[in-house]
Amino acid sequence: VRKFGLIGYPLGHSFSQTYFSEKFKKEGIRDCVYLNFPIASIDLISSLISQEPLLCGLNVTIPYKQQVIAFLDHQHEVVVATGACNCIKIQAGKLRGFNTDVVGFERSLQKKLHAEDTRAILLGTGGAARAAEYVLQKLGIDYTLVSRHPATGRLNSITYAQVDRDLMRSATLIINATPAGMYPRVESYPEIPYQYLTDRHYLYDMVYNPAQTLFLQKGAEHGARTQNGTAMLAIQAEESWTIWNS
Ligand SMILES: NC(=O)c1ccc[n+]([C@@H]2O[C@H](COP(=O)([O-])OP(=O)(O)OC[C@H]3O[C@@H](n4cnc5c(N)ncnc54)[C@H](OP(=O)(O)O)[C@@H]3O)[C@@H](O)[C@H]2O)c1
Repeated sequence: VRKFGLIGYPLGHSFSQTYFSEKFKKEGIRDCVYLNFPIASIDLISSLISQEPLLCGLNVTIPYKQQVIAFLDHQHEVVVATGACNCIKIQAGKLRGFNTDVVGFERSLQKKLHAEDTRAILLGTGGAARAAEYVLQKLGIDYTLVSRHPATGRLNSITYAQVDRDLMRSATLIINATPAGMYPRVESYPEIPYQYLTDRHYLYDMVYNPAQTLFLQKGAEHGARTQNGTAMLAIQAEESWTIWNS
């Protein structure tokens, strides 16, 4: 048996465990299991690895994507660049860290990306936003970061109140990398001036529950392209599977 799992805290229902358990069943993979490991402190990762000798791979979720880096023996270049790790391959007790959120974001973004989308507004400054920044830089898309508490001294970082008509007109890609709108707080949404949206815009939401957040609904009402976080989740999971088996 090969074991895989998810570390995070707390772990209520987990997309990953459901995804991999269904995948193993569907694809007739009988020698693999995927378990949830809710650890209350990241320091517990070392005892988890020694207690679970059959563990071959882990996914990492909130709040440990940054904290886990201190426990890695090797970091993939994307982990170094983003400062976040969501996938670990375990070989002979050594931990190799990867970031598959980046691949998940890039491939799902490209589904509806147009060549005209050369400027973006990126909402949020957490780990998910860092993965998005990495991809925007790679694709050569210019972006403005929007935060409730923008970093002083960072040129492209502004508050929600500073998102004006001119910026909304020039930036056709708007990415929500905050938890605003996520279940159970489905009535909330990022505070941007939605009245300036047009059918040239592309609204991308990393939130996947609900499938259509108010953010995406407001985009759809103006004829914008929309993409939720479901594809990103599935792509990052498959990318983890590829890494664990390579
Ligand atoms: N689909 C996927 O595969 C996938 C992958 C990763 C993450 N996600 C989702 O992406 C979202 C962000 O993830 P994360 O790990 O980066 O989370 P996070 O670190 O908890 O939050 C990201 C940022 O959002 C802003 N924020 C927090 N609460 C907010 C609120 N109520 N209203 C407006 N802004 C708020 C904060 O930035 P400021 O304080 O600077 O405003 C925070 O740094 C989550 O909903 C997560 O589930 C999805």
